[in-house]
Amino acid sequence: MNFHLKVWRQNGTSGTGKLVDYEARNIPSEASFLEMLDIVNEDLVSKGEEPIAFDHDCREGICGMCSLTINGVPHGKDRGVGTTCQLYMRKFKDGETITIEPFRAGAFPLQKDLAVNRGALDRIIQAGGFISERSGSAPDANALPIPKPIADTAMDAAACIGCGACVAACPNSSAMLFVSAKAAHLNLLPQGKPEKDRRVLGMVRQMDAEGFGNCSNYYECEAVCPAHIPASFIAMLNRDYTAASIRETTSATA
Ligand code: FES
Repeated sequence: MNFHLKVWRQNGTSGTGKLVDYEARNIPSEASFLEMLDIVNEDLVSKGEEPIAFDHDCREGICGMCSLTINGVPHGKDRGVGTTCQLYMRKFKDGETITIEPFRAGAFPLQKDLAVNRGALDRIIQAGGFISERSGSAPDANALPIPKPIADTAMDAAACIGCGACVAACPNSSAMLFVSAKAAHLNLLPQGKPEKDRRVLGMVRQMDAEGFGNCSNYYECEAVCPAHIPASFIAMLNRDYTAASIRETTSATA
């Protein structure tokens, strides 16, 4: 298969970038999108040109590192696929023009070409997305029964791989879907409840400090999420944040 690519090239964090035209030739239909870029890069290197920088790691849909906006949609418009690394070139038409850009958001500073810095998501996790349990003495799992509907909902939230597609798709560059999933999978379980208020307040405040926007119900995040995280977790986070704020204010004035 052959494709005409328009790829965002930008040399470093400062300066302006632009879309540059490339031809991807003799691409096997079974090649993944990242393997197609590998082939293009091999061709560029053989010609003595700078290869296209892009993020990737597991290439199995697990790590959340791959982060390309393909024809205007984070991870591409094929909703059943998941992440960019799980997108295969047979999904495109032979001869198609494909525009490839980075995940765009003010809180994701561009590093080079298609690679952005998503450290802001890590800092949100550091602000509360964990439980303070001593390791090495895990109790028997059956000693703490958890109703199946709650366990299932917590598992749904835990499916978030932190890729940041929700942020890139949102007109507000909101990270609410990410934060709500990362808070909910702990808040719902008994192990996460003792630190629930501290977690919610810390993560939301760090989200604001990083410059992410708020949610105004576009639902673009839910539409592009490769883990199919539902936006209903955002409503859960808003309720938990309001309750935690009231308790914090009440205890401060008591
Ligand atoms: S490279 Fe790990 S999810 Fe795509």
